[in-house]
Amino acid sequence: MTAMSGREKLIVALDLPDAASAVNLAEKLRGHVGMFKVGSELYTAEGPVLAHYLIAVGEKVFLDLKFHDIPNTVKAAARQAAQLGASMFNVHASGGRRMLEAAVEGARSTRSSGRSTASPAVLAVTLLTSLESRDLTELGVTGIPEEAVVRLARLAQQAGLQGVVASPREIEAIRRACGPKFLIVTPGIRPAAAAANDQVRMATPEQAVRAGADFIVVGRPITGAPDPVAAADAIVAEMEMALAPKT
Ligand code: C5P
Repeated sequence: MTAMSGREKLIVALDLPDAASAVNLAEKLRGHVGMFKVGSELYTAEGPVLAHYLIAVGEKVFLDLKFHDIPNTVKAAARQAAQLGASMFNVHASGGRRMLEAAVEGARSTRSSGRSTASPAVLAVTLLTSLESRDLTELGVTGIPEEAVVRLARLAQQAGLQGVVASPREIEAIRRACGPKFLIVTPGIRPAAAAANDQVRMATPEQAVRAGADFIVVGRPITGAPDPVAAADAIVAEMEMALAPKT
């Protein structure tokens, strides 16, 4: 992948309850961010309308529906994501190797109806960034969480996925294990001055990029800001500090 600017690396999570408010925000942010993430709240409320709209006007879409089902169903869903013209979509790595391979097959099996003819990047969710050690114990994930994350990232890479969604503090270990070409998309980002909300594993945009994130996902610090464009521009500026050649 060629070097990307701070703006191209910024994915904004359109975590809003309806299409009207999402379109309103997206229109303001166009030209200031690299991609729009449509997740389960908006998708459940409005279906693919928003993604269709964004792709039709030339924007990139990350379809964040975290598929986790039998391989045949995930393959069919992946085909639909590709058909829609999503640039990225994701699945849970814990669905297992055959499900992961099916996702990749589905993504490659059709050409999008959008402007981009490339297949979407398929990303794996390893462990949700909201999980704390007590949650992991209850789920039977023993040992060091970072080891589970790296194991799942490796599995995803072997199955042909292009990358993972990973928390800031997992970036370096995944980069070491999976190499420079494997995409790392990082939520759990808070600009230096912002409140932590409920994300347990946090980093600033600059820290995430320095650690090796290809993309960062930012929701509430932009969507909840009094001036979302100014908030997005400030985050891009923070990333540019990490990207600037050292003098
Ligand atoms: O508002 P905030 O910046 O915390 O939003 C983070 C976004 O990243 C949310 O849309 C959340 O669903 C998403 N996320 C994710 N994968 C994770 C953790 C968070 O896609 N492992």
